[in-house]
Amino acid sequence: EVIEDDKISQQSTELILSLPREKGWRTPYVYLFQGFWCQPHEIQAIITFQKHFQAKDSDVLVATVPKSGTTWLKALTFATVSRHNFSSFNKNHPLLNFNPHDLVPFFEYTVYDKHDKVPDLSNMHEPRLFGTHVPFASLSKSIKESNCKVIYICRNPFDTFISSWFFANKIKPGSLPTLALDEAFEMYCKGVVGFGPFWTHMLGYWKESIEKPNKVLFLMYEDLKGDINFHLKRVAEFLGCPFTLEEENRGVIENIIKLCSFQKMKELEVNKSGTFGRNFENKFLFRKGEIGDWVNYLSPSMAQKLTKVMEDKLGGSGLTF
Ligand code: A3P
Repeated sequence: EVIEDDKISQQSTELILSLPREKGWRTPYVYLFQGFWCQPHEIQAIITFQKHFQAKDSDVLVATVPKSGTTWLKALTFATVSRHNFSSFNKNHPLLNFNPHDLVPFFEYTVYDKHDKVPDLSNMHEPRLFGTHVPFASLSKSIKESNCKVIYICRNPFDTFISSWFFANKIKPGSLPTLALDEAFEMYCKGVVGFGPFWTHMLGYWKESIEKPNKVLFLMYEDLKGDINFHLKRVAEFLGCPFTLEEENRGVIENIIKLCSFQKMKELEVNKSGTFGRNFENKFLFRKGEIGDWVNYLSPSMAQKLTKVMEDKLGGSGLTF
């Protein structure tokens, strides 16, 4: 395969072509870069990010496994951190007019998507909010060394798999055939999925959150669904901007929860008809937003297989779903 893409430098192309590769979910190939699988343009952007990003102590990074609640957590984080500039009661709140991925940009899809045009981020309004799917081990050195905060979310691998499979088939180029569920499942269990293996991704942030609880807050989609009020308060405390009793009494917490809810966000015009750059339509980010939808798609033997993978890879870590 020749990588023809003006977003990738000659040097990166040579590196990418030397990496192990497998068939991708929505690209001809994915490559094993620094121990995780990704697409060529992601590798280029991550190289640029690692080389150039200078973290500030006030930065907030929303780090996630793809299809684990990234959009939701970005919305919650943005609304919480910026609530003194943008009241959630405001009829013109940015979240009503922009998709969360535009307000909390990904390093690998937005900030560093042009290797020959590295942005100057030093004058960005603080605290700066960024998003990423990059595993902890591959975050830029300055993120690990500074006092910036990382909020991480992952999700039950069964539901993450189903969500990823639907999404990949929605946004893949028309030139590629539909990816069959069985085939995607085998790839997922082998670890071949964007930014996977999923277990390495989770364990990297999990360990860091245990060693440095003030640096990394580890969240799960299911916990947020179960008690969003409690977890939103945790997020605010972790970020050093706890909700006051007065705010709580005024309904600020409940209002942020409503503003960021699946139903509310899904019905916004920007999320019904907008697009994420040239990549995909925002509406594909809002499918069902439920726990346990996987039972409608996976056979008992598939469920058994993934359970075994999870036992093998996550057993003993303390991380359970
Ligand atoms: P489903 O495909 O199971 O419906 P990500 O944002 O990381 O891409 O994750 C997408 C998943 O989160 C999708 O799951 C999507 O429906 C769900 N989701 C999106 N916005 C949400 C919200 N505001 N609240 C809860 N879930 C949400």
